[in-house]
Amino acid sequence: MKRVFVTGGAGYIGSVCVEELLNKGHEVTVFDNLSEGHRSAVDPRASFVEGCLSDAEKIKSALKESNAEAVLHFAAHALVGESMTNPSKYFTNNVANGLKLVDAAVEAGVKKFVFSSTCATYGPPDTIPMTEDLPQRPINPYGESKLMFEKVLRWYKEIHGLDFVAFRYFNAAGAGDKFGEHHKIETHLIPNVLKVALGQAENCQIFGTDYPTPDGTCIRDYIHIVDLAQAHILAMQPDKTGFYNLGNGDGYSVREVIETCEKVTGKKIPVIEKERRPGDPPKLVAAAHRAFNDLGWKPEYPKLQSIIESAWMWHQANPNGYPD
Ligand code: UFG
Repeated sequence: MKRVFVTGGAGYIGSVCVEELLNKGHEVTVFDNLSEGHRSAVDPRASFVEGCLSDAEKIKSALKESNAEAVLHFAAHALVGESMTNPSKYFTNNVANGLKLVDAAVEAGVKKFVFSSTCATYGPPDTIPMTEDLPQRPINPYGESKLMFEKVLRWYKEIHGLDFVAFRYFNAAGAGDKFGEHHKIETHLIPNVLKVALGQAENCQIFGTDYPTPDGTCIRDYIHIVDLAQAHILAMQPDKTGFYNLGNGDGYSVREVIETCEKVTGKKIPVIEKERRPGDPPKLVAAAHRAFNDLGWKPEYPKLQSIIESAWMWHQANPNGYPD
């Protein structure tokens, strides 16, 4: 059993990870300002502190109180498109506020820092599937902000001896039994497509049909959030440190995702073709062998259809998302 401090534990990925940690017998404190997250997405077995990463004193006192051995840092702004219009929001929260957390972690003697990074740190890759040693050349401020924080962690390991695992997530999707995807403003592909199946929207949009891909739409590697959560638990093993991709190694185009949603829901999903969305790389697909070999990670739900099935179950059970 470990005491774990989870920032962003009321958010989409954090909430599922908190549930898995508690199921494994860990003791969890969630620190979240509820700007994107939901109070009812926090598993009732966890302690909850409402606080913002801009508040260094609050972080320090909450971390001290939790007596945590590990920090899992999910809290961030994570929208590629928004980062192209409001870069300051991304650098402030994801870098400057993150520094307050990592400084507090060093001061409190935390042993392990697990960070939610992203494949957006690579930018358009030279080769597919993408290994961790590819050059990192982000094409949006979101990816840049996460890359900056990766660099902070590398130096803090060297100078302060803080062990870290930085996970470069590909596209998180799907739901657990209890917790799922409810963003206050939804921009992600799968939930927006499922809204049409639920009768909450008339059509979905495809951003760009002229990419250099077989059907002209962007290709992404979708990974089940329960599988992401398991990787975080494995990251807490002693002596594990470094950068790891988390993806399935299968790329699906936007059109293929929509077709799979039609198959899973049995509904016709009308589409509207739009211009490209700024900041989107054409194709991102992971090679995650490092996580398989070093951490013993093995995704349990690698198929897009089972990922979408879990999302569809959750959205049908929670058509308006969380109540708060
Ligand atoms: N898309 C559409 N229509 C929509 C929504 C999205 O065509 O209504 C397209 C996007 O343009 C993109 C693809 O579907 O090509 C996936 O878009 P998402 O918004 O679902 O996801 P992103 O790939 O932009 O970003 C997500 C997370 C990031 C993370 C990234 C890793 O939001 O935090 O995956 O690829 F870094």
